[in-house]
Amino acid sequence: MSEHTNEQSKNQDLEQFRKEPGELLTTNEGVKVNNTNDSLKTGTRGPSLLEDFHLLEKNAHFNRERIPERVVHARGVGAHGYFQPYESLKELTKAKFLQDPSVKTPVFVRFSTVAGFRGSADAVRDVRGFAVKFYTEDGNYDLVGNNIPVFFIQDAMKFPDLIHAVKPEPHNEMPQASTAHDNFWDFVSLMPESMHMIMWVLSDRTIPRSYRMMQGFGIHTFRFVNEQGKARFVKFHWKPLLGIHSMVFDEIQTLGGKDPDFHRRDLLEAIEMGDYPEYELGVQIVEEEDEFKFDFDILDSTKIIPEELVPIKPIGKMVLNRVPDNFFAETEQVAFQPTNVVPGIDFSDDPLLQGRIFAYPDTQRHRLGTANFESLPINRPVCPVHNDQRDGFSQYNIYTSKVNYSPNSLGGGCPMASPENMGAFVHYAEKLGGRKVRERSESFSDHFSQATLFLNSMSKAEKEHLVKAAHFELGKVMNKEVKERVVGLFNHIDHEFATLVAAGLGLEAPAKELIPNHGKSSPALSMENQPKDSI
Ligand code: HEM
Repeated sequence: MSEHTNEQSKNQDLEQFRKEPGELLTTNEGVKVNNTNDSLKTGTRGPSLLEDFHLLEKNAHFNRERIPERVVHARGVGAHGYFQPYESLKELTKAKFLQDPSVKTPVFVRFSTVAGFRGSADAVRDVRGFAVKFYTEDGNYDLVGNNIPVFFIQDAMKFPDLIHAVKPEPHNEMPQASTAHDNFWDFVSLMPESMHMIMWVLSDRTIPRSYRMMQGFGIHTFRFVNEQGKARFVKFHWKPLLGIHSMVFDEIQTLGGKDPDFHRRDLLEAIEMGDYPEYELGVQIVEEEDEFKFDFDILDSTKIIPEELVPIKPIGKMVLNRVPDNFFAETEQVAFQPTNVVPGIDFSDDPLLQGRIFAYPDTQRHRLGTANFESLPINRPVCPVHNDQRDGFSQYNIYTSKVNYSPNSLGGGCPMASPENMGAFVHYAEKLGGRKVRERSESFSDHFSQATLFLNSMSKAEKEHLVKAAHFELGKVMNKEVKERVVGLFNHIDHEFATLVAAGLGLEAPAKELIPNHGKSSPALSMENQPKDSI
């Protein structure tokens, strides 16, 4: 009998005795309870008795019901659904879930705000998380994105600083969920690389009408790898089929107070009524030989690849059609990780992405309290999991094999797949080399051109909203120097915009000068002129 069959049969030995959950109240050990209203006492007036295991268990469990909330994106709402490709993408990727247009892959999605606590209001000015877990036959693939196509920082080294600055100030834990405070704007004023993202943050994109009407972006450049081993760069885009809609700031202010659950309710009610939210997935593909043809670096997460340069190719549709049965077990315990890739999809060298590969499973071992969090029902892959990892807090599987190491000569164990015929994940054999340095590439140094591009793409009304948002958010900043520094950075984006913001804040208009960095853009990248370290 093989080890696997043996394990199954041993587990079944116990399974055959298990009963469906009954109707009567029991303890966690399955003992029926006759009274859950009164504790066991000496006489009706007590004192209570320590042997009252029902009282002890009921309270002990309750005492442990809270787990740490996510360190960011603590407030969210989840939904189940499926993804279906429009056509086979086998020319581009060998990812199984993108091969056959008749195959629906189950997904779980979690939308979130970033800065607020788990109990904070939905309707606030904030970036929104857009995380999708695809349960594919080759393992879980997670696309953990946001509703903004760029990010605040270029390197994961700055993430703890960014989040310390975004979250409430440490001495008084204020304000609860807002960009409006000194620490955040102080950080921003000293981080010119955040300027492109800040323009998006002040735009109407951070006050979405509904999670059903919001775009999603993978942000980083990733890789698609096909069966022949050919790789191409790829950026992911989700487009809501209902269109992109925002609220106006006054609306969101009122809603935050009147209905703190507005976005959560909107999503769940729509699904319950059969009005299923749908999103189209699109990709921008860049050939490897074109890596250096842009005047920005495609590894820089503060940059988009303009659609005029690389159009978006729609590749499939996601439909959200089922609400979770239990918020905690599913939406709270779901563990998305950019780390989760499948054969056919691989990382790029984006230094922000590289840091994320570590951060998510690390925080989840802490947040969910066990190295076995991947066995929780919402995280468990739909394909077999077979390895020698054992033990740890809350091990859900009963392993029966005698050996749990490799190599072994005693039978059992886990033979390894060969990449050719058994679909193993093989990291893309990117050619690497260069000096070991703690430096940033020159090609990441233009922080303003795309911010200007974004501003120029706006209608008059959108620009007015942007200026008003800057007045509101920066108006809450007490430190004058911080405000002046931010206006100074805005001046690199657009003089008129900076002047309007300064006027609303009671500051002097910045001088109209030739901006040293702006317009210069990064040294044009080409095969001849690529960053020296990247060769
Ligand atoms: C959580 C997006 C950058 C660390 C999340 C979530 C999203 C997200 C959507 C919530 C996932 C959920 O719903 O459970 C992004 C995007 C980024 C980014 C789009 C940049 C492009 C980073 C970086 C780090 C980081 C650079 C750290 C180096 C975390 C952590 C969590 C988180 C620790 C909590 C995860 C958990 O507790 O399950 N992020 N993030 N993120 N992110 Fe990021």
